[in-house]
Amino acid sequence: MRLWYNPASPFARKVRIVARETGLAEGIDEVNTVVSPVKPNAELARENPLIKIPTLAVPGEGTLYDSAVICEYLDSLHPGAPLFPGAGAERWRALRLQALGDGILDAAVLMRYEGVVRPEALRWGDWISGQLEKIRGGLSALDRECAGWGDRFAIGQITAACVLGYLDFRFAEQDWRAPHPALAQWYAGVAQRPSMKATLPQ
Ligand code: BEZ
Repeated sequence: MRLWYNPASPFARKVRIVARETGLAEGIDEVNTVVSPVKPNAELARENPLIKIPTLAVPGEGTLYDSAVICEYLDSLHPGAPLFPGAGAERWRALRLQALGDGILDAAVLMRYEGVVRPEALRWGDWISGQLEKIRGGLSALDRECAGWGDRFAIGQITAACVLGYLDFRFAEQDWRAPHPALAQWYAGVAQRPSMKATLPQ
């Protein structure tokens, strides 16, 4: 299998963490890929019409995207404890938590693009405030919920960890820890996992 990723992308990090947590990383050729919403990457465009990372090519099966689909596909390939619960209330809880984390990441990545890609004269303060509101609301929800996670590190928790890693990486000045002490304590623990350390964006 071949994975197009960028080390800065939190969505690609989700997939790379899942690959390592499931013991599948050895079988995946990771291709470090430069992506920009304003400069399409021709090689990636041949694999994924949305020209987005992560994208996973699976021999004999075609190409998979986005991160949620790739993560669930990888989870179907290993014999260990599933990262996506199979059915019932636990599955909906895990998928909802993944969606919460992905939504925070969508807002954070849009904020990042706004700051570094959009010309300064075209920036729109209300739009930026709207994204920040989603990030703040999402972090408060994670902070309230994390006490119930125990030592689980399934798809929802992996996504939450990618959110916090991305905020540290791109928005360190925002200090998400001070208003979210429970989340900060949870993150300090999971950040020590080998899968998290191996994929830490530099
Ligand atoms: C970033 O540089 O922050 C970034 C790169 C790729 C995808 C998303 C974010």
